[in-house]
Amino acid sequence: MKTVQGKVAAITGAGSGIGRALAKLLAQRGCHIAISDVNEKGLAETAEQCGQSGVKVLTARVDVARREEVEAWAAQVARELGGVNVIINNAGVALGSTIEDVRYEDFEWLMNINFWGVVHGTKAFLPHLKASGDGHIVNISSVFGLIGVPTQGAYNAAKFAVKGFTEALRQELEIEGLPIGVTSVHPGGIKTNIARNARVTERKGWVDAQASRDFEKAFATTPERAAQDILQAILKNRRRQLIGTDAVLIDLVQRALPTLYQSLLVAGARRWRRKALDRAG
Ligand SMILES: NC(=O)c1ccc[n+]([C@@H]2O[C@H](COP(=O)([O-])OP(=O)(O)OC[C@H]3O[C@@H](n4cnc5c(N)ncnc54)[C@H](O)[C@@H]3O)[C@@H](O)[C@H]2O)c1
Repeated sequence: MKTVQGKVAAITGAGSGIGRALAKLLAQRGCHIAISDVNEKGLAETAEQCGQSGVKVLTARVDVARREEVEAWAAQVARELGGVNVIINNAGVALGSTIEDVRYEDFEWLMNINFWGVVHGTKAFLPHLKASGDGHIVNISSVFGLIGVPTQGAYNAAKFAVKGFTEALRQELEIEGLPIGVTSVHPGGIKTNIARNARVTERKGWVDAQASRDFEKAFATTPERAAQDILQAILKNRRRQLIGTDAVLIDLVQRALPTLYQSLLVAGARRWRRKALDRAG
């Protein structure tokens, strides 16, 4: 896709963070947008911030975990905006827990949003992107879709799954010669609300509120920067987009030390854990 001007893009999870920044950037570039979220207040704020751009803005409350809601939304967007060129499967949540402690209901909650939400969005919009003759699918994975990390087992499972699903999809569409690009996006730490809204199973020396705050403080990249990188990935039809210096570094370490990186993480986590246990007394 050479330009997004005059095109139609649908974005899930657009009530906050990366989704909101994408909606604003695409609207500024003259792209009509269909934005959805379960957070209707956040969504209304995003719509208001996109309002001055002179493009069409369609909002809908859509829970990406519910296939029928995503399918109905895709049909509505195509009908009301005259077609769809881009779907950005962005909605996501976080969960901090060891695998021993993780509750099945929390694991399923996360998988239903972070993995199945991406599948629902891709399959519901694919026929419309094919019909548009110039389409792009963006699926948001993470650097945690590149490396496994203690207390992130559920999130890792979903984000690795998104990467595999997206890479397979890209190849299938290429084999068929369809004019639809596909990008797997791997952000590092982005300053958004994700950590604040995370579910956490507290465990001394593993996961606690202080650890979540420390983790969030290390996030370096703004959502606006992430949105610019994602737009470039669409325009340049990139297979993969890393976001942030931390993501570039993590990718390098994973490729240079594909198994040894785990020993390094274990050594770092043990040191961090001793400090956390000392702090807790
Ligand atoms: N922030 C980071 O450091 C980071 C890093 C890597 C990947 N990501 C990924 O980026 C994406 C966007 O996250 P963000 O950082 O902007 O977080 P955010 O919390 O600021 O925004 C996520 C949005 O998704 C929405 N959402 C949650 N559950 C939903 C559901 N069931 N249906 C529809 N919408 C739902 C939320 O209401 C929220 O508005 C996520 O997929 C996340 O996993 C974020």
